Amino acid sequence: MAKKKPPTSTSLIAHPYLPPAGFGSVQPAVHKASTVLFANTAALRARTWKEKTGYTYGLHGTPTTFILEERIATLEGGLQTLLTPSGLSAITLVDAALLKSGDEVLIPDNAYGPAKELARHELARWGIAHRLYDPMDAASLAAALSPATRLVWLEPPGSVTMEFPDVPALLRAARSRPGIVVALDNTWGAGLAFDAFALGADVSIQALTKYPSGGADLLMGAVTTRDEALHQRIKATHMRMGWGVGANDVEAVLRSLPSLMLRYAAQDRAGRELAAWWTKRPEVVAVLHPALEGSPGHAHWATLCSQAAGLFSVVFDERFSSAQVDAFIDALKLFRIGYSWAGPTSLAVPYDVSAMRRKVPRGGALVRFSIGLEALEDLIADCEQALAALTGPSSS
Ligand SMILES: Cc1ncc(COP(=O)(O)O)c(C=O)c1O
Repeated sequence: MAKKKPPTSTSLIAHPYLPPAGFGSVQPAVHKASTVLFANTAALRARTWKEKTGYTYGLHGTPTTFILEERIATLEGGLQTLLTPSGLSAITLVDAALLKSGDEVLIPDNAYGPAKELARHELARWGIAHRLYDPMDAASLAAALSPATRLVWLEPPGSVTMEFPDVPALLRAARSRPGIVVALDNTWGAGLAFDAFALGADVSIQALTKYPSGGADLLMGAVTTRDEALHQRIKATHMRMGWGVGANDVEAVLRSLPSLMLRYAAQDRAGRELAAWWTKRPEVVAVLHPALEGSPGHAHWATLCSQAAGLFSVVFDERFSSAQVDAFIDALKLFRIGYSWAGPTSLAVPYDVSAMRRKVPRGGALVRFSIGLEALEDLIADCEQALAALTGPSSS
């Protein structure tokens, strides 16, 4: 009997079959590519790197990444979006694209910690200076400006201490000198709570890692602009730096986007109710949530925002040691211990406020809560049962 002649690998790679065109599905296809194929050399030679009219190499865009970019640009009310591998790399991209040796960048002193570390270490090594300003005092921003200032960051609100700044006043101060780009970290607002571009920002970045993904299972960033020249400046650096994103992660964000507004509203509602519950607890001296009356910057939040993220902090009474507050966190069953926010699972993290240089209400340890999608009554019951650990047998 004649043995089967195996096909060559070529027949499995250069296969002539093409599926029928015109397939329709709800979710876009996942195009995975490093190599992008050209029909002929003329097409390769005619490739354009600047527009979304063609494809050159996976790093510089596929149908999948272009679709997510366009949807995030729409969400933000901008014109163009670039995707990056994390929220932090979106911040890095803006810094790297817009600053050069001898320039200065201004950063709010309550900004996302790693963004300040980036300035302290990498930007400093590149000869770029940074100054911190108090976001709750526009005069502090004005005083920090110098002829070398090229970029001012805004981050409403502080993501641990939760104070909401007077964004228009900060923008007016930043605009008092010409030639300054204002970039806003819009991760908390997610393009929903307020309109970064209507307020006057030039660049809006988001960690898509948070609400747009919503899954606590991937990292991605977005840099959105509404000025074509500014977009091209940032895009040129984006291409040279090689910060691409994986198609499967893009697909996951595309799959989550349709529920973004529902999730944001639900997490906002539960966050506010749980924050209000904490205001009645004798164990805490302050609840820091911009939508709560009395919270720092509440009036600015009320003027500028229609919604809030499901994120807030409480400051425990100083009669409780940080070990006792840790025991409370360890006793939580539904709230898990971990960084980040906006995922389905509620999180609790202790922060050392004394290391933060912030004017936090006097008290003991600060705990930040990220509200997930569990039932509110279960989250309240979880906090209530865990409070027993504050004064329980382990405390003295
Ligand atoms: C306000 C803010 N911006 C940016 C980031 C960075 O996002 P990523 O974790 O995707 O790098 C974070 C992360 O916690 C954040 O809280």
